[in-house]
Amino acid sequence: MTQSIGILTSGGDTPGLNAAIRGVGKTCLSQYGIHIVGFRDGFRGLMENRTMALDGATLSGILTLGGTILGTSRDKPHKMPMQGKLVDMTETIVANYHANQLDCLVCLGGGGTMKNALRLQQAGLNIITLPKTIDNDVALTDTTFGFDTALGIATDAIDRLHSTAHSHHRIIVVEIMGHRAGWLALGAGIAGGADVILIPEIPYDVEAVAEAIKSRKRKGKPFSIVAVAEGALSKQEFELQQETAAKKKDKKLKEVVSVPELVYAERTLSLARQLELLTGLEARPTILGHLQRGGTPSAADRLLATRLGAAAADLIANKEYGVMVAAHGETSLAVPLQDVAGQVKTVPPDHAWVASARGVGVSFGD
Ligand code: F6P
Repeated sequence: MTQSIGILTSGGDTPGLNAAIRGVGKTCLSQYGIHIVGFRDGFRGLMENRTMALDGATLSGILTLGGTILGTSRDKPHKMPMQGKLVDMTETIVANYHANQLDCLVCLGGGGTMKNALRLQQAGLNIITLPKTIDNDVALTDTTFGFDTALGIATDAIDRLHSTAHSHHRIIVVEIMGHRAGWLALGAGIAGGADVILIPEIPYDVEAVAEAIKSRKRKGKPFSIVAVAEGALSKQEFELQQETAAKKKDKKLKEVVSVPELVYAERTLSLARQLELLTGLEARPTILGHLQRGGTPSAADRLLATRLGAAAADLIANKEYGVMVAAHGETSLAVPLQDVAGQVKTVPPDHAWVASARGVGVSFGD
């Protein structure tokens, strides 16, 4: 009997999503004759049964496109915003899955999507997921598609900021996305030659950051680039967060502290002001924001998304469900979804990237 699958993209958009949709879709159609339907705007579209036909025509010409042709949302099946309230719509989603006579639902997403997908698996659906996010914070995969493109964009931005920082003898504090993981700021900071890199995993002391900048000035370099990850915290902020978490009797900080993007930006502006006061140099903040997620995917992301997508199709044909298709060296691995959901891959403070940055004189402000 012909298999039928659904596919959706959920969470923040990421370069490479269309390449992945195409990878799954074209391999399903051409290698296995599997029928595919797309659901629009993540789990919301599945709940509302808003579909998009995915066939040879719609899967064509999308490899190089940024964003997602399916649209996306951050809506969760069990907490769907409905007329001002959050409602558990899992039953409706399960009913729509069966109404579409699906054998499997493929969910392309990051950490949040993994948790939502696991919930649907526990509600009885056959699920396969693919790891996408510019944050690179999904556990048990070498990397995620979207990260390489964002890394290139953020590095290019730092390159450009260098010449203006140098010309004006200024500090440029550049905020880089990543939510509560420092991979993107760390990678772009190293690749762009930042002088200071601040990441959530290594709480910083603003005085130590200022000292690193002043030391450069003393050596005849009166300009500095500070690459700060969205979730970077000073030692005091980190302690405060831990106390809050302890008060809530939950040691999992990530569950307790929900930080809107505006707060990230406010912290970056405040850091720039503090550095001005402490160093006597002018400082300018630059928030790269959603630029980092936009536009065409890099060649590496197209390749990764295509090969993970094709591997997902192979698993579907073998009826191997309940897994995330992880990048593993040059191949892929089917990792149980329950092992991935709820895990966040943050930067180990002794990671080789951190060590190499320290080796070339980068300050982490610690
Ligand atoms: O998870 C990807 C990401 O871009 C994070 O780096 C960032 O903190 C967040 O999404 C921004 O979310 P939104 O696009 O919903 O503002």
